[in-house]
Order: sequence, then structure tokens, then C-alpha cells
Amino acid sequence: MDYSIHRIENHWNEALASLHSDCLVVGVYPNGELTPSAAALDHLSGGMLTRLTTRGDLEMVAGKTLLIPSVSGVMNTERVLLVCLGTAEELKLKRWKSLFTESLNALQQRGVARVDFALLEAAPQDMSQADALRHAVLALDEASYRFLDFKSDKIGALPSVQQAAFLVSASDEEALETALAQSKAIALGVELTKNLANTPGNVCTPNFLAETAQQLAAQSDTLTVEILEQADMQQLEMGSLLSVAQGSDQPPKFIILDYRNGAQDAAPVVLVGKGVTFDSGGISLKPGEKMDEMKYDMGGAAAVLGIFKAVAAMRLPVNLVGLIPSVENMPSGGALKPGDIVTSMSGQTIEVLNTDAEGRLILCDALTYAERFQPAAVIDMATLTGACVIALARAPSGLLGNNPELVQSILKAGETSGDRAWELPLWDDYQDLLKSNFADMANIGGREGGAITAAAFLSRFTKAYPWAHLDIAGTAWNSGDKKGATGRPVPLVMQWLMARAEK
Ligand code: BES
Ligand code: MN
Ligand code: ZN
Repeated sequence: MDYSIHRIENHWNEALASLHSDCLVVGVYPNGELTPSAAALDHLSGGMLTRLTTRGDLEMVAGKTLLIPSVSGVMNTERVLLVCLGTAEELKLKRWKSLFTESLNALQQRGVARVDFALLEAAPQDMSQADALRHAVLALDEASYRFLDFKSDKIGALPSVQQAAFLVSASDEEALETALAQSKAIALGVELTKNLANTPGNVCTPNFLAETAQQLAAQSDTLTVEILEQADMQQLEMGSLLSVAQGSDQPPKFIILDYRNGAQDAAPVVLVGKGVTFDSGGISLKPGEKMDEMKYDMGGAAAVLGIFKAVAAMRLPVNLVGLIPSVENMPSGGALKPGDIVTSMSGQTIEVLNTDAEGRLILCDALTYAERFQPAAVIDMATLTGACVIALARAPSGLLGNNPELVQSILKAGETSGDRAWELPLWDDYQDLLKSNFADMANIGGREGGAITAAAFLSRFTKAYPWAHLDIAGTAWNSGDKKGATGRPVPLVMQWLMARAEK
């Protein structure tokens, strides 16, 4: 989808009289009150909108729409879509986004190729125009996303609406152009993240992720990529990471992305993404039901790649390192077994009591590797535990960390972006649960507090820097009807990085 800003000079009356549009979207409040643009349209059409709304043609419930196939008085506007905004007091982020989603859905496959939104004038009161625009773009992009790589009919399934323009008054234009450019970049990142997570495990292998990273670097002058092969990882003594890979025919890859566009001496932020391209559970094999969904166990890796794509596209002035340990977790004659003891890159030994707790086994070596960048902060993203989904469902990502300021700033970015996280405790109390009779620690802590014990495990490898962990097992993926990747937590982390870059 293509997005643009259309500047309105002078008054709505004149602007709308001369507007060329496939479809103009205007808003109405449930009490019949019209927004300024809708009022202008009403005036031009001799009171048509008022007649329709008082007559009851539009159900006065937030998000309900009425498509008017032609309106007199606006010769070059082919159609008008009236959308009920709900009350101004109840218009918050979620509803704001839904207005765009509902509008787009009402227009798909009706021959509308380009839509003009005159809704920014009705943006939520607690939101800047720029933020409102950003959220609108991301909502539209979400609603028009299709994953057709593996469908024979790619054309027929495409949404008809290809272009969206936002009508804005001249005074705000510059800030809005910036916001538009930023949200386009984020949308590109979200799309990449979704595409990768939706791509099946027979295609999206560790090597596929590595090639994707290399393609990103080829398109950018500020991004370089290095791929560590199995032999390199052996040399680094990443024994924990390698132990997960040993059951698979797919060679492991360790992807290092390096984006430098901030102050030369500024310590980088390091993003770490779990890249298990398929998680069968290994010898601790998962049950068959929904096992197909474990192709998205590289959702953290996909998010890191999406974030780098967005950051490079908007040329964000930050220094950013991305680390993606990538493996396939499979059972075989050579696979890691319950009871095996492995030595991590940090030197700490781990008794593997369950080969399905593999995410932490690959992340711990990446987190140790992160030390060499002397990072300002490290954020890891991982589809780490089913327990996180049980604790929090799919609304927020689970958030745990060793630095309260970092955690607070991430929580805040979650609220602003609408891609929320929720903190879980990471007290010392939980460390006891990881005791092993034979090694420095076990890789599981039992059934209770599974999301927390997983993070407690990781915390043993993150003592050298401020660190936060996002458990995205629930948020990276929709189950059920809408089965597929969500692109989260790209909007959250982008918001956090942008806020940081502004400081
Ligand atoms: N990739 C899974 C976690 C997961 C589960 C992600 C469901 C998305 C949806 C992870 O590797 C895993 O298997 N975790 C185990 C840990 C357990 C063995 C301690 C889990 O959550 O059951
Ligand atoms: Mn697993
Ligand atoms: Zn996993």
C-alpha cells in the first residue's frame, strides 16, 4: 500500500469541491454531529449527510460505515464513506485504529483503488496529529497485509485499495510528513517480520534468515552483516547453542547485524532475537496438535530483522547491533538428550532436563557474545515460553529485566505504540528453581512460573549490562481464524528506539 499526505489549502468547502477522489472518508459522531470536513460535504451536497444520518441509514455505533455511491455537489469525488467515530471521549488508540481498519474493509473489492481520509481532524484528544497519523498508517497496513507467497492466485487475493491519502491542513504539514515517513518505514519492518514468521520451516531455515540479513545489508550503506558458521561458533565455544543444532540437518547460523548511524563513540544498543526456525521440541518431542505453528519460533529473529529494516529505511540516528542465533530444534540419532550437560560460552554448565526448553540454550550464548559490544542496553525478543501465554494471554508481551529504568522505558513505549508489554517479577527467589544436582544449573525450573524461570535462566548471562527480555510467545502470533504472524514487537521496539534517538 502506498501512503501520502494531501494538503488542504483554505477551507474544506473549496478543497472538497475540487477534490479528485475514488472515495472520501469522513466522520460523524453518534449524536449526529459532523466533523468539519463532513460538515463541508454536507453543505456542498445540500444536506445529504444530515438526511442520511437522521434517517438512520448509518448505525450510530463506533466503526460502523455507510458507503454513499455518489454525492451531488462534489463532482470529482466518486464515493463517500461515512464512518461513525463514537464519542470523542471514548476515542482512544484502539478505536482510532479500528476506524481505519473498518473503513478499509468496507471499501475492499468495490473498485476503490485510492481512498482519501479526512479523519485526522477527529484524532483522539490525548494524541498528537503526528502520532495519530502513524497509528493510522500502521492500522491500514495491517488491514491490507496478505501473505500470498505460497498461493497460486496472488492477484485475485490482493486487496483492491492500493493507495491511501490523508487530508491535512497546511499548518501541520511538516511534522506530518516526518511522521508519515517514519510510519512507512515501520510498516516495511512489520511486513518483513510477518513474512518471515509466516514462511514455513522448509523454506525459512537458519540459512534463509542469514540470506535475508545479507540482503538488508546490501540495500543499506549504514548496515553491515556478518554470519558465523558452525566452525566459528565452535571456536567461540558456544557449546549450548550448538547442542540444540546438533539434531538437525540444517547448519546453525549466528547472524550479526551492525548499524552505525549515531554518535561515533556512543555505546550501541544490542537486540537479540531467538531464531529457532522450527521447534519440534527435539527428543522431548512436542505433541502433534498445532506443531505446525512452531515455524514461528523464529519470531524474535524476524522482529530483529524487521527492526533493522525499519531503522535503515528511516535512517534513525542510533548505533544498533543485532544478534540472531538461529537453529532448527529436531530429534535425531545425534540430537541433544535429556540429561546431557553442555558448557555455555560463559563457561557455566547446563543440565538439559528438557530439550524443548531450547530457546534459552541458544540465547544464553548470544547474550554472552553481546558483552563484547559493551552495550548501553540489550533487549532480547523470544517466543520463549507457552507459560507466558498462560500468564498474560496475547495482549501484552512478557517483560523482565535487570534494570528498572530500562524496563520502565519499554513499558512506556508499549503504551505509546499500543504494542504493549507487561512486567513480570524477576526476584532472586526464582533462581533456586533452576538448581541442578549435576551442573551449574538446569535448563528448566518446573511447571510453576515458567515464563519467569526462563528469564531467570537468561539473567545468569546478562550481568554485564542493562538487559530486558521480551517474551513474545503470545504476541508474535495469532492462533485460530486469523492464524499468522502479527509483526509484534516491532512497533514497540521502534517506538523505544525513536524515543531514545530523540534524547
Ligand atoms: N518455542 C517454545 C515456546 C512457545 C510455546 C512459543 C507456544 C509459542 C507458543 C519453547 O521453546 C518451548 O517449547 N518452551 C517450553 C518450555 C518448557 C519445556 C520448560 C514450553 O513453554 O512449554
Ligand atoms: Mn521448545
Ligand atoms: Zn522454542
